Amino acid sequence: MSLRIIVVLAVLTGVTGSPSVTIRPVADSADMSTAHPNSVPETVEETEIFGQAELFEEEEAEEDVMATGELNPNHYPAQRAAKVVQHYLNTRYGSPYRLFGLQRVHSGNAEDVADSRRKYQLEISVQEMIGNTTEKCSAEVIFARGEQRSAQVQASCEALHKIDTKAQEEEFYQKYKKNPSLLSAQYLPDSYGHIEPDMKPLWHLGTVASSFIMLNESTENTLYNMAQVANVTQLPTENDQLKFDYHIALHEMVSQEIIHWKLLFTWSPAEGVKVLQMEQLPHCHDCEKPPNTN
Ligand SMILES: *[C@@H]1O[C@H](CO)[C@@H](O)[C@H](O)[C@H]1NC(C)=O
Ligand SMILES: *[C@@H]1O[C@H](CO)[C@@H](O)[C@H](O)[C@H]1NC(C)=O
Ligand SMILES: *[C@@H]1O[C@H](CO)[C@@H](O)[C@H](O)[C@H]1NC(C)=O
Repeated sequence: MSLRIIVVLAVLTGVTGSPSVTIRPVADSADMSTAHPNSVPETVEETEIFGQAELFEEEEAEEDVMATGELNPNHYPAQRAAKVVQHYLNTRYGSPYRLFGLQRVHSGNAEDVADSRRKYQLEISVQEMIGNTTEKCSAEVIFARGEQRSAQVQASCEALHKIDTKAQEEEFYQKYKKNPSLLSAQYLPDSYGHIEPDMKPLWHLGTVASSFIMLNESTENTLYNMAQVANVTQLPTENDQLKFDYHIALHEMVSQEIIHWKLLFTWSPAEGVKVLQMEQLPHCHDCEKPPNTN
């Protein structure tokens, strides 16, 4: 009798154990190739948690969430926090001719602080993508856990003010301010990764404006990148501010999701980007991939 129970138990364990091992969020390989190199190990690591016994699960989950102390600069926790600094710099200093990208994390440190918040201290290099200059920044990013509140960022960079883009910005401003027919464009870049040279400032401006969304949406567990401008429509200039309606696609690399947003904002050389409205759009399968534009 007791033997039979043991056998049944063993079978049950076998049955409940094995399917969980095979559960894997299968990301399609095309998407993976565009992902950050660290996204693969991260997915595997998180997946493997499901394969462990419950006790193990708790330990690993905790370890995964709280990378504390000195961080490996190439691993996800440091990279994710550093990416938020990139978005912050774009919201503060970005323009159609000034766009920042994270180049490298040199060092990072994370700690728990009051009110169950988490503080990251980082030394990073950022690249100004248009003039192709690189500079070092010291930054602090504070995430409020479990709250719908965006990260607080402070950053001090060596020589941001040395990048002078005034003349180009003024030219762009005058061109579109006087535009007799309001501009509209779609798919920047197109499905071949191409952007017409005169559309590039609009791609840069859309990326800068998208950083407002990505800064607001980022948590310790996200890694957002700008994927594409689905379309952009210029609206009539108001109070000397150029006004644009953008539909953009963001790529969240941890979940491998493409997320669409509508973004209404103004821009002028003097005022920079001012977001009037940001709205997440429902998932839409037809717009996940831009159609081939021949
Ligand atoms: C940017 O500058 C670096 C050197 O500072 C150079 O190696 C690299 O090729 C440049 N990239 C582009 C896209 O011009
Ligand atoms: C930023 O995100 C929060 C939710 O996380 C939202 O309540 C808030 O409206 C957003 N800010 C803007 C400007 O949309
Ligand atoms: C812009 O793109 C969005 C999302 O792909 C779509 O819903 C909208 O109709 C498009 N607008 C224009 C003017 O093409």
